[in-house]
Amino acid sequence: MTIKAAVIGVGSMGRNHARVYWELPDVELVGVADTNQNTSETIANRYNTKVYADYRKMLDEQKPEAVAICVPTSLHLEIALDVIQRGIHVLVEKPISSSVEEGKLMIAAAEKARVKLMVGHIERFNPAVIALKEQLAKNKLGKVFNVGAHREGPLPQRINDVGVVIDLAVHDLDIIRYVTQKEIVRLYAETQCGIHSKYEDLMSALLRLSDGTIGSLVINWITPTKIRNFFVTGECGMFKVDYLTQDLYFHENSLVDESEWATLGLLRGVREGSMIRYHVNKKEPLRAEQEAFLKSFTNDTEVPVTGEDGLRALELAQALVTSGHEHRLISLNHSDS
Ligand SMILES: NC(=O)c1ccc[n+]([C@@H]2O[C@H](COP(=O)([O-])OP(=O)(O)OC[C@H]3O[C@@H](n4cnc5c(N)ncnc54)[C@H](O)[C@@H]3O)[C@@H](O)[C@H]2O)c1
Repeated sequence: MTIKAAVIGVGSMGRNHARVYWELPDVELVGVADTNQNTSETIANRYNTKVYADYRKMLDEQKPEAVAICVPTSLHLEIALDVIQRGIHVLVEKPISSSVEEGKLMIAAAEKARVKLMVGHIERFNPAVIALKEQLAKNKLGKVFNVGAHREGPLPQRINDVGVVIDLAVHDLDIIRYVTQKEIVRLYAETQCGIHSKYEDLMSALLRLSDGTIGSLVINWITPTKIRNFFVTGECGMFKVDYLTQDLYFHENSLVDESEWATLGLLRGVREGSMIRYHVNKKEPLRAEQEAFLKSFTNDTEVPVTGEDGLRALELAQALVTSGHEHRLISLNHSDS
């Protein structure tokens, strides 16, 4: 059976959702809506679909079963409510909304209307992250001590309704929760506004997880080259994910051999061991994300990234912004699920 799908907002991210719907078998891209006529016409022509300036008209005429919302974050709630109230399943881009209060309203509306609500935390569908999670589940690392991410790069000119923490740190906050299955219970951030006067464009942060694991985040859009790395360090070594190339590396610890000269025992510690680059079957994360979303309502199963997951990532990002503004440590009352 063919699923009718549509996209609202076909700018930088939305045009990729439109392409994926167009590429997927058993999906018909029934329309795209964007207030920018040039943008929407280009995309509609490319994927041979209907074009709308008013998304409500598209929803009422085309009656899609699934909609991807890819407008600026400050518009997510208003548009999601219009979609949800029509009984249509929603994939809303990350971050879920521009405030926690808005996110809660969206989740409540989706529950009431009994529609699926998924948040586009795309890194969960990065094959290197999936491979990392598999290795951690096999206890390849032993006890985990430290997690962290570097997400740095140039300023995307189009984002002007949120700062770098709400826009980008949500990715890694979600991945920390996802791979460790632990909640962040304490955090402290230093932030700086340089390019934007209103929003931060640079953050360094320290985190503590419920099991004592320490986390760190270096997130900015002031770096002239794109870096997207995630690390997990534990008893047996360190995993490194390159989100961009979808590579997973393991740097193994080589401990001093017990049988060696006894005095060496005093110097016992971590030494560099072998390094493995795992074979990872590469796949477009957005396609995997959309497939999982569509499957959730055709099979009536839980979406892999729930509204609550999106809300938690946003809550943590907002706490980091507050910490940066007020120069204070913030404790959170989140228990592990
Ligand atoms: N998952 C990811 O990795 C990722 C990457 C980039 C952006 N995003 C998210 O996607 C969303 C959009 O970001 P972007 O970079 O594509 O922005 P963008 O500015 O490139 O595109 C937004 C589009 O929405 C359109 N729009 C604005 N108001 C509208 C309305 N009322 N009705 C219909 N269309 C409207 C604009 O004309 C524009 O074409 C943001 O929430 C952002 O955080 C996610």
